[in-house]
Amino acid sequence: MDTLRKLVESFLADCLHDLDMPERLREAMNYSLLAGGKRLRPVLCLLCARAAAPEAKKEEVTRQALPFAAGLEMIHTYSLVHDDLPAMDDDDLRRGRPSCHKAFDEATAILAGDALLTDAFAFMTRAGLKNGLAPELVLQAIAVVAEAAGGRGMVGGQVLDMVCTGLGKTAVKGDPAMIKRLREMQALKTGALFRAACVSGGILGGGDAETLTALKLYAEGLGAAFQIVDDILDETQDSATLGKPAGSDAEEGKLTWPALTSLDYSRKLAEAEADKAITALAGLSSPEAETLRALAQKLLTRVC
Ligand code: IPE
Ligand code: IPE
Ligand code: MG
Ligand code: MG
Ligand code: MG
Repeated sequence: MDTLRKLVESFLADCLHDLDMPERLREAMNYSLLAGGKRLRPVLCLLCARAAAPEAKKEEVTRQALPFAAGLEMIHTYSLVHDDLPAMDDDDLRRGRPSCHKAFDEATAILAGDALLTDAFAFMTRAGLKNGLAPELVLQAIAVVAEAAGGRGMVGGQVLDMVCTGLGKTAVKGDPAMIKRLREMQALKTGALFRAACVSGGILGGGDAETLTALKLYAEGLGAAFQIVDDILDETQDSATLGKPAGSDAEEGKLTWPALTSLDYSRKLAEAEADKAITALAGLSSPEAETLRALAQKLLTRVC
C-alpha cells in the first residue's frame, strides 16, 4: 500500500505543472491537492486494478492506471474544497492547514474545485489515450466515476447532507426513518466515490463480472464503515490530530451516527460494515485482496 501511495503522491506532485492556466488557479489547486491526505481512493483504485489483473500484468496495469487513480484524488479534493465553504460546512481547517477559501478567497476556492473536477476527467482519459489501456475499458471506468461523482452519487449525497443539516439536534435517537435517511445520504456522499474507485480499478485491471461484483460489495461496506468512523472522530478526536475542526458536526447539527444513536452503537456498526467488506472478498485470493481486507480492518482504528 505504501508503495502505491508514494506512486500516487509523486504523480500528483507535478501533474498540474505543465498545464497552461492562470498561476493563481494552479496555486489554489495545488494548495489543496498537495496538502497530504490519506490518498485512499486512488490507492484503492490501483489495488483493485492489481487484484483484477493477471499476475504478469500487474506492474504494467499499475503504471497505465496511475493518471486515472490521480483523477479520483482530484475529484475527492474538489469535494473537500467545496464541502468546507461557508455555504456548506463552513470549516476553516483542512488537511492541517487553512481551508482553500481561507488561504485564498471563496471565488478562488469554488473555481479551484471546478477545475480539479474537470481536469480530473482529462487525466482519466490519459490511461487510454497515452498509456495504452484498452479504450473501451477506460470508457467504462470513466462512466462509473462520472455517475458516482454527479447528481446520482456524491453531489446528490452532499445535497441530502445539506437538507438534513440541523436534524442532528432535533431528531429522536434511533428514529428508523432518520436512520434510513442517514444511510442513504452517506452511501451517496461518501460511498459512491469509494465504490467508483474500486469498481473502476477492477475494470481497468480487466476483472470479470464476478470480481467486479465482489469489489463493489467490498467498497460499499468499506465506504459505510469509513463515514461512520469519520462521524465518530468528529466527536472524539482533537482538531490538531484530525487536521480539520473537531466538533463541527455537532455545532452544525449534522445528521450523523453518534447524533442519531450513540458512540458505542456507531463503533459496532462500523465493525459490522467492515466485516461485510471483508466477507465480500472471500472469493478473491491475491496479495492485493489480502491488503484490501487488512485495510478494512485498519480503517476502524484510524485516528484521522
Ligand atoms: C474526508 O475524506 C471526507 C469524507 C468522505 C469523510 P478523507 O478522510 O479520505 O480525507 P483525506 O483525503 O484523508 O484528507
Ligand atoms: C463529506 O462529509 C463528504 C464529502 C463528499 C466531502 P463530511 O463533511 O463529514 O467530511 P469532512 O468531515 O468535512 O471531511
Ligand atoms: Mg459535509
Ligand atoms: Mg465537512
Ligand atoms: Mg465529517
